[in-house]
Amino acid sequence: MSVFFLAKRFVAGETITAALSAVRELNAAGLTASLDFLGENVTNQEEAKRTRDVYLRLLDEIARTRTRANISVKLTALGLACDKNLCVAYVNDITERAARNADPFVRIDMESSAFTQKTLEIFEQIHADHANIGPVIQAYLKRSPADLQRLIDLGARVRLCKGAYREPSAVAHRDMNVIRRSYMLMAQALLSRGVYPGIATHDERLIRAVCSYACEKGILPDRFEFQMLYGVRPKRQRMLAAQGYAVRVYVPFGTHWAEYFRRRIMERRENAFFALWSLFTK
Ligand code: FDA
Repeated sequence: MSVFFLAKRFVAGETITAALSAVRELNAAGLTASLDFLGENVTNQEEAKRTRDVYLRLLDEIARTRTRANISVKLTALGLACDKNLCVAYVNDITERAARNADPFVRIDMESSAFTQKTLEIFEQIHADHANIGPVIQAYLKRSPADLQRLIDLGARVRLCKGAYREPSAVAHRDMNVIRRSYMLMAQALLSRGVYPGIATHDERLIRAVCSYACEKGILPDRFEFQMLYGVRPKRQRMLAAQGYAVRVYVPFGTHWAEYFRRRIMERRENAFFALWSLFTK
């Protein structure tokens, strides 16, 4: 029996068709999307190639159906852990195909700190030839302010998030107030000097602080976008859009949803209650 119903709030479906249908509903509400084909830590080349092929098909379908969406990829799903050169070749293929779309942008998600350096190196390598690609910076990592400075100097389009992986205290802050402070300092740098940053958070304090900062500095809403996850604070997403802010929803899909779902459950107690509730209201 499929237990997908448990993850349904956070995962748009198991197929491209289901995912695009969810995105069209978001589009109708004035939101754009970034589609993520779920899967990470692929350990063989065949599987990495299959992931690339799904993204190529997805890009064609986005174009054909004129859906307002771009894509997010995880390098370990494209074989980073087994063959770095192959992974670079696959990201290149995807980035070139995406360049034909109305929204040509390709986001490289940031994974655990074991992959930070390699991910940023691959980003820089591809960005040298393709401007339509951008990385993610995690506010909890102690190295991030220095990484961000370099990315701003490169003119990279950055998504800023808190960070979702369990990391040792040697590499990551653990205190939420410290993470928030770090997030806000980097958000200010991106808003003032970055290229169309993605402010990815559901944290009300940060959302308000970003709106106030932008207003105070005369930074118009078309210079950045808020980003939130599918199924998390959907009313707030719509409210921000109604206020004139650009809002992009991160929309995961595919059959490998368990690890993504686990991270959402670990983040907030309410999410765990929601999943438990689904068991009884199926
Ligand atoms: P967090 O969960 O810390 O909540 C803080 C506060 O926000 C709460 O106390 C409450 O005030 C408010 N809040 C949150 N959820 C709420 C709800 N449902 N209802 C009401 N209030 C709520 N991570 C990563 O490591 N690599 C990546 O590439 C990405 N990519 C990414 C893209 C996008 C679009 C998003 C939104 C997030 C990511 N992340 C990520 C995940 C990110 O690092 C982080 O783990 C989660 O966003 C959780 O942190 P938040 O800042 O959203 O709020």
